[in-house]
Amino acid sequence: MCPPTYFAVTYSINPWMNPAKPVDPALALTQWEDLRDRYRALGHTVLVLDPLPGLPDMVYAANGATVVDGRVLGARFAHPERYAEAEAHLDWFRTHGYADLREPVHVNEGEGDFAFTASYLLAGRGFRTSPHAHAEAQEFFGRTVIGLDLVDPRYYHLDTALCVLDDTADEIMYYPDAFSPGSRAVLARLFPHALLATEQDAAAFGLNAVSDGHHVLLPQSATGLFDPLRARGFEPLGMDLSELLKGGGSVKCCTQELRGG
Ligand code: ARG
Repeated sequence: MCPPTYFAVTYSINPWMNPAKPVDPALALTQWEDLRDRYRALGHTVLVLDPLPGLPDMVYAANGATVVDGRVLGARFAHPERYAEAEAHLDWFRTHGYADLREPVHVNEGEGDFAFTASYLLAGRGFRTSPHAHAEAQEFFGRTVIGLDLVDPRYYHLDTALCVLDDTADEIMYYPDAFSPGSRAVLARLFPHALLATEQDAAAFGLNAVSDGHHVLLPQSATGLFDPLRARGFEPLGMDLSELLKGGGSVKCCTQELRGG
């Protein structure tokens, strides 16, 4: 995770970002600390990346890399405003003992567009991550990539429209209308038992959630997801990240998962 020390909305690269709307930096920090402390209270280890001035979106740490089996695929951002974040993430991995690193050739925004299930590496495209990066990730990780076309600019990253609930069992939740008809059909075929989110819960960033296989941390305003999650045996935990929503992100965007290594 990366604290929102320099968080601000000074430019707009997604429809949620409105530079005219004020952000409360102190509240953003408190909300971020609540998320970090919640992870720690649940027994997870949270490592922190130092924020850099001039990179207001760095708080969305999920976009900085993808880590699987201890192997690190670096990011390459679509927008110049975020270019420099990629190197900061790679430096962090270099100084934390990760030897198997790849500086990507093609544009990919890390876990913003890559999601791991037991059988697949789901990969978004259409707004940020290039389809060429899907092939690059498949080759690097040796996992089956399933490319999914995002069609609604409000859901510009895969992690705004789909969440892996249990990565040992191919259990996911998603918002169908964020995807093209063909991608919707692929999801229905691969995940026939998925939890489908309503427009209202998707718009509350309810799919921008993190699950450890039991606890699901998600925005508290995505109220329609709580009972269906409980019915499937999960324990939903509502978080308030209202300030970070102003940059177009929530729980998952602020969290990069270190898998293995
Ligand atoms: N303002 C950031 C952007 O548009 C938000 C990134 C949100 N992160 C995410 N994993 N969806 O790039």
